[in-house]
Amino acid sequence: MFKLCNGLRLPHSIPIPYFRRSTSTALHFYQNRQLDLHAAKEAKRLTLRQLVYFGRHMNEERLITSANYVRTELPVRIAHRLRDLQALPYVVVTQEGVAKVYELYWSAFNKFRQYPPIKTLEENEEFCKFISTLLQEHAPVIPNLSLGLSLSSHYLPPDELDAFMRRMLISRISRRVLAEHHLALSKSFSDRGKDTTGEPHVGIIFTGLNIKRSVEHCAKLLVESRLWFADISTDGEPPWQPEIQIDGHIDTAFSYIREHLEYIIFELLKNAMSAIYAKHMPKTSPPPIQVTIVAGKNDVAIRISDQGGGLSHAQTPISTPSDLFSFSHVRNATRLEDSRIGALRNASQSQEGLRATVAEQLGSWEKARKQETVDLSAAPSQILHPRIGIGLPMSNIFATYFGGTLQLVSLDGWGTDVYLRLPKLGTNLEGIEL
Ligand code: COI
Repeated sequence: MFKLCNGLRLPHSIPIPYFRRSTSTALHFYQNRQLDLHAAKEAKRLTLRQLVYFGRHMNEERLITSANYVRTELPVRIAHRLRDLQALPYVVVTQEGVAKVYELYWSAFNKFRQYPPIKTLEENEEFCKFISTLLQEHAPVIPNLSLGLSLSSHYLPPDELDAFMRRMLISRISRRVLAEHHLALSKSFSDRGKDTTGEPHVGIIFTGLNIKRSVEHCAKLLVESRLWFADISTDGEPPWQPEIQIDGHIDTAFSYIREHLEYIIFELLKNAMSAIYAKHMPKTSPPPIQVTIVAGKNDVAIRISDQGGGLSHAQTPISTPSDLFSFSHVRNATRLEDSRIGALRNASQSQEGLRATVAEQLGSWEKARKQETVDLSAAPSQILHPRIGIGLPMSNIFATYFGGTLQLVSLDGWGTDVYLRLPKLGTNLEGIEL
């Protein structure tokens, strides 16, 4: 059911875009019946270990099974979220960006449910092209959703808003993992023997992911791109580059999705670097960032400690560290800042808007680097969404997807410690909600 702002409800059998076009033909009712059928099914959640195990000894039959799993599972997961969108108050549905997300999901849902079963490798190739196109088309989902829900911040209680965003984002991560894993498995299968990634992996899961190497990779990208500095200053060149010291169990390696780990580390290091700059600007040698890696029995832990003054020193103080994960302006006032809404609008408008934002960002880096080029091909995906202010909430969602945690502890006046724990056995089910 749609909830209208005055408490009235619309029958849930009328999807939003169709309601707007004020048509209610049998076809639309039929389409909603399809939505009902799919939304009534439970998602078949997987563990990281299952993804690795299934993908390890790939053959034609397994690849076709994987394709058909993606074909039938994604519309179920999308249907759950379409239902979620339909249950939003109407005043939220009408905010900029929300209808766009609804339409993208509705269209993807219909395409998936009508996609015929895949029986051959040639059909799988077509299916891979189909998924790749959809993955690209859905690139502006996060800025659109973030824009719409930020603007709705006045109309939804913070708990409700954050729970909704969490369901939407974790489900999106899960769908993209399934789609990208299948694409990677298909590519490895067709490239047999010609794999050039150099690191052991099954699909998108790296089976010997070395944490220290990921920290160094993210640090290098941040330093070379100056992104940590561009976020807080327009001056071009930072006076110094922050130093990062790594200690603990520095040889720790585990099976994980590298993109997820590096998204989180990139974000945490960026925040630490910016905080140190804000507190120690004039100093020629500011205190280093300490990264400690610990391999526990069931999980790996990474602590990132900075001496950037802690959260009370931040430009917009918040009342508790976990408020930084909130999408609601009630908990985190930055959500409705003009510069952030502007960046979201830019990124959300279209693929072109997104590309322009990236181009602008790259342009300023290029200038700052005096024409040297930074290789961003291996950068975590948030460089595609610069300055839209969702890096920390997204990091929290990435951390919890397979049952990990992310905690911030502020030592006010001194610095911040961030604790990231990720399960290393791969036995937790995906943390998506129905
Ligand atoms: C998304 O990115 O939101 C998706 O659902 C991806 C999927 C359509 C392949």
